[in-house]
Amino acid sequence: MNKDIFSPFKIKQFSLKNRIGVAPMTRMSSAEDGIPRKDVLDFLVTRAKNGTSIVYTEAIVTDYESAQGYPGQARMLTQRQIDTWKPVTETIREQGSISICQIFHCGRMAWKDVNPAKRVIAPSPVKPAQDNPLTGTAYETPDTMSQFDIDHVINGFVQTAKGAIAAGFDGVEIHCAHGYLVSQFLSSYSNKRQDQYGGSMENRFRFAGEIIEAVKKVIPEEKLLIARISNWGIADMQVSLFENSAEWQKMVELFDASSIDAISVSTYDYSQKAFGTDKNMAALTREKTQLPIMICGKIYNRMTAMDALKDADIVLSGKSML
Ligand SMILES: Cc1cc2nc3c(=O)[nH]c(=O)nc-3n(C[C@H](O)[C@H](O)[C@H](O)COP(=O)(O)O)c2cc1C
Repeated sequence: MNKDIFSPFKIKQFSLKNRIGVAPMTRMSSAEDGIPRKDVLDFLVTRAKNGTSIVYTEAIVTDYESAQGYPGQARMLTQRQIDTWKPVTETIREQGSISICQIFHCGRMAWKDVNPAKRVIAPSPVKPAQDNPLTGTAYETPDTMSQFDIDHVINGFVQTAKGAIAAGFDGVEIHCAHGYLVSQFLSSYSNKRQDQYGGSMENRFRFAGEIIEAVKKVIPEEKLLIARISNWGIADMQVSLFENSAEWQKMVELFDASSIDAISVSTYDYSQKAFGTDKNMAALTREKTQLPIMICGKIYNRMTAMDALKDADIVLSGKSML
């Protein structure tokens, strides 16, 4: 029998009142202080008041050197930034909903001009084939990340996760999807490294695993730690980031064995059969993990949500929430 979208769900110690969440959505509303505009914050609170059980932030940039890809992105590193989010997380909690802070680094998708350190870094010096739609020009060829860069970037995730906890979030999501930095490491399309961070799926997962375990250490045990994954990236959208279902499922096994509490699977369309199989992305993911699965992509009404819940536990909705 299909799970009902309005049935409760327990994720760790959190009792969700239904299976519906607001997907993470970048809004580019911040001034130079890295603080989103009030109406953008109000939107999140309003969705909790309307009954969604999970509310995601936009992707929060993890450092001041090289993480940012779009103008007006938010950070969670200064006391003012943290204090801004406190009433948001409190009000969401008062509605009986939970708040998750998504954190990310753009990697080769970064835009020099909006990064204070004007650097673009990635696992390998491979730029996206398409132009940057925001500038109408080619993306930069990124610098290959050194071990120093890797450690520095991981520290950015750690500090930002600490900020999210100080701001009162119920959980932190590491954005490992959409062709941003962690996704760039996971996919052999953008990861050409020959060291311990490249080559086999285990090696390409290493960076994600190190971030997860480093963040796990600094967030209280009861908080949620989630990873978002996808087979598509924002640039070169037509490219399948993983070669086949076996590669995808190997990656899922590695995430499953890490310290995360749930996996969020992002698709264009949840119902699409994946990698030439007769299963969708959520079903392929479910075969390799018993962790709670969130699914997103063209879920916009009761019928699509109920259908998507056949293979997942929670549905996230993006554009229709906007
Ligand atoms: C305006 C906008 C901003 C987005 N920003 C993010 C983001 O910051 N992080 C993320 O993981 N996904 C982001 N997404 C993708 C959504 O979370 C979601 O996966 C996508 O919109 C597909 O779901 P939908 O069909 O319900 O819109 C964004 C989508 C939109 C429309």
